Amino acid sequence: PYVIADACIDVTDRTCIEECPVDCIYEGSRKLYINPAECIDCGACEPVCPVSAIRSDRKVPEAKKAFIADNARFFAEPLPGRDEPLGAPGGAGVVGPLGVDTELVAAFEKEPA
Ligand code: F3S
Ligand code: F3S
Repeated sequence: PYVIADACIDVTDRTCIEECPVDCIYEGSRKLYINPAECIDCGACEPVCPVSAIRSDRKVPEAKKAFIADNARFFAEPLPGRDEPLGAPGGAGVVGPLGVDTELVAAFEKEPA
């Protein structure tokens, strides 16, 4: 699957959402997350992100590899305030913006640009 890394944090441009044919890009609070169970690897989202936050999981730079597991974690573990994991709900439009992040993202301190 494709993966969104730290560059998206506090930017959340959202252009990627419009490109995804299967609606598998879900909105947290500070960042968006790609559902690895739903992404069909089409790659349409990658070139439209203005901060180049999106990569194939096979091309994520070493320093950002934690975000591969973290995109998956957003769906595999219950988010704050929920009893069940999101799993594969069948599209971001079904659940809407979630308003929460993984622990990694919630605590992430961005370097000043
Ligand atoms: Fe984030 Fe880039 Fe999408 S900033 S919301 S990954 S277009
Ligand atoms: Fe959608 Fe990007 Fe995957 S457009 S299908 S999240 S490669």
